Amino acid sequence: MKNSWKAKGYVDEPVPQEIDLAAEIRRMCKEKNAVVLAHYYTEGAVQDVADFVGDSLALAQWAAKTDADIIVMCGVHFMGETNKILCPDKKVLVCDLNAGCSLADSCNAEDLKRFIDEHPGYQVVSYVNTTAAVKALTDVVVTSSNAKKIVDSFPQDAKLIFGPDKNLGGYINSVTGREMLLWNGGCHVHGQFSLEAIIQLKKEHPNAKLLVHPECPAPIQALADVIGSTAGLLKFAIENEATEFIVATESGILHQMKASCPDKTFYPAPPEASETIGCQCNECSFMRLNTLKKLYNTLKYEWPEILVDPDIAEKAVRPINRMLELS
Ligand code: 13P
Ligand code: SF4
Repeated sequence: MKNSWKAKGYVDEPVPQEIDLAAEIRRMCKEKNAVVLAHYYTEGAVQDVADFVGDSLALAQWAAKTDADIIVMCGVHFMGETNKILCPDKKVLVCDLNAGCSLADSCNAEDLKRFIDEHPGYQVVSYVNTTAAVKALTDVVVTSSNAKKIVDSFPQDAKLIFGPDKNLGGYINSVTGREMLLWNGGCHVHGQFSLEAIIQLKKEHPNAKLLVHPECPAPIQALADVIGSTAGLLKFAIENEATEFIVATESGILHQMKASCPDKTFYPAPPEASETIGCQCNECSFMRLNTLKKLYNTLKYEWPEILVDPDIAEKAVRPINRMLELS
């Protein structure tokens, strides 16, 4: 590994102009017995070249059962960590070590440990969008597709801490009738959608169904026709007879929605500041660090590799496996 790559967090090597990146990526996958997994929030070209595209739960399930020697996780850092924890003998690669997650960053292990110590008798339910060190302090991991089911599996009077996403935690409290203690964390993308702009979009498209990810704030959840994980929202769009949908989650999901439902129309929910500063805040800047060029170089040079401290991995694998068993 070159020092310049290390400094940048990704392989910064030129790629020949004439090369067909997608074809080369597929060729290397075959040659190296590698698989490419991509989250729905990555750009369309990355999704199209992947062996499997899915939500956080499906990606973890897929990684757990693959017999490939190399997994390239096109997503964000915690997804690579989850794969490595589940598959310690495989080489787990990512496109760019800078692809973090504002939600995972909103909960560090030292602060969580202090909070747990202040609340004896509580069990910890952590969203998968957390570091391996936070998972190591956790009793069970959840994703947005299985959070309700897993929380329901605890006795009704169990004392639970839920973190780090306060919006998902609030939603699960409301649908399970619980009062879990909520960590005050959030995702910068889902926290940025404009309630007013969504209401306006609903007025302009009165027949459109509003699809909302549970990481969105409660006032947006309250307007939703369906609240679900990325896979859940995609399924709803495919199965529902409506032909128009407003989508309040990261806009990368529209790629699969449009591909699966070419006759339906999808409107990305606008973020708060889009008109004033022209930002693309309904795009996750971390997910967009995954590009075909970086994926090509990652496979070619087999770097950056995700490594997890073995002591942390040993503790973190238990709540992840518990999630997979309960899903
Ligand atoms: P899901 O794919 O589980 O809905 O998660 C969304 C997300 O925020 C991934 O980072
Ligand atoms: Fe993290 Fe939010 Fe990006 Fe998902 S969309 S990876 S929660 S920052």
